[in-house]
Amino acid sequence: MKTVTTVKEMRALTERWRRNGKTVALVPTMGALHDGHVSLIKAARAAAQRLVVSAFVNPTQFGPGEDLDKYPRDLKRDARLAANEKADVLFAPASEEIYPAGFDTTVTVGTALTQTMCGLARPHHFQGVTTVVAKLLAIIRPHQAFFGQKDYQQTLVVKRLAADLNTGCEIVVLPTVREADGLAKSSRNTFLSEEDRRVAGAIYQALKLAEGMLQVGERHPKELLEAVRKRLKSEPKLDLEYVVAKNADTLEDVLILSGRVLVAVAVHLGATRLIDNVIVDVPSGS
Ligand code: PAF
Repeated sequence: MKTVTTVKEMRALTERWRRNGKTVALVPTMGALHDGHVSLIKAARAAAQRLVVSAFVNPTQFGPGEDLDKYPRDLKRDARLAANEKADVLFAPASEEIYPAGFDTTVTVGTALTQTMCGLARPHHFQGVTTVVAKLLAIIRPHQAFFGQKDYQQTLVVKRLAADLNTGCEIVVLPTVREADGLAKSSRNTFLSEEDRRVAGAIYQALKLAEGMLQVGERHPKELLEAVRKRLKSEPKLDLEYVVAKNADTLEDVLILSGRVLVAVAVHLGATRLIDNVIVDVPSGS
């Protein structure tokens, strides 16, 4: 496996692959690869003839006071993991390579998908994500790009972007990979102390509670969300940012829960922000 750090070399490689009729898959990451990324890499490897894993801690998606500086970075380990999964290229550009002097363009997806949930507490986050993803899609020109369901709002935003900009790239979303107690795998889990790690287990338990309530007929967001909040608040160290139940396709609030329902939470555990969600198919009229 080759590690590529320049846009010029990355473009040259992917152009050659495309000229030779190869299909190209991309797994975009911020590095610090974990089992969730590995599951995406495995699926991408099986789907396409050439596979690029990108590892770039994108500064524009972090707000002031967020964890950009302490975000975990271990490029050697990332390269080893990507090579184990037979990626063709690890694309690991420096920040100046992606945002050179004079860079002055941002890509923004409309407010219905971005100014809700994570976008409320992190107002510039999605603009940073969409700008860098648009650049990665322009540089690598993948036929498919793979994302995890843990960042569900991001997957909807990126799907919108990929369609609206006629990228020709299919956005593939794969299920969240979890620890034994259900905690969603995340690069940020490395920040958790042993005690925080135990407390964090409550997030998935609260989401499973919501899933169970929907399965036995609860259709009122208020009751459902109260139960989720109560479960989360039973762990005093969990500081709730949001708990929502929404239409999973549009992120709209609904009066009656039916169809594809998204239940999503964001919490702070000390200085660490964690998000997770479940999607439940609720037969309409049931
Ligand atoms: O999900 C992530 O790791 C990032 O938001 C992404 C998609 C790689 C863009 O920086």
